[in-house]
Amino acid sequence: MKHLLAVPGSARAASTNRAFLAALAELAPPELGISLWDGLAGLPIFSPDLEAAPPPPVRDWAAQVGRADGLLLAVPEYVHALPGGFKNAIDWLVSREEIIGKPVALGMARTGAKRRWPSCAG
Ligand SMILES: Cc1cc2nc3c(=O)[nH]c(=O)nc-3n(C[C@H](O)[C@H](O)[C@H](O)COP(=O)(O)O)c2cc1C
Repeated sequence: MKHLLAVPGSARAASTNRAFLAALAELAPPELGISLWDGLAGLPIFSPDLEAAPPPPVRDWAAQVGRADGLLLAVPEYVHALPGGFKNAIDWLVSREEIIGKPVALGMARTGAKRRWPSCAG
């Protein structure tokens, strides 16, 4: 059985990206285990100074990535870029082995826009 770690890139309580990944986890076929990681808001700000002895939330994040066969990322666009919190989570993995060689699927779930951002074509 393959195990995928679903990672929402939004820390918002009512995140559409988290809801999307939670639905995937619920609807996944039995031969595919999908677990939702919800630790984004609990990670401290990355600093190379902390890499030698990472805090427990970071160790847990890295361990969950390490146990997964692949990652499902659902990440909103913030100011034409990745949300800072999501980038912070990735930064914590930069000098580690856990994510190396793992297949990653990246998507975004979004309901109808209330605002029109300059980068949006539709
Ligand atoms: C701080 C902030 C910046 C955003 N910047 C963009 C943007 O540059 N382009 C865009 O299309 N949407 C932008 N959005 C809209 C979000 O991508 C959209 O609301 C998305 O659904 C949020 O994901 P979530 O529901 O998982 O939290 C922004 C939203 C916020 C809160």
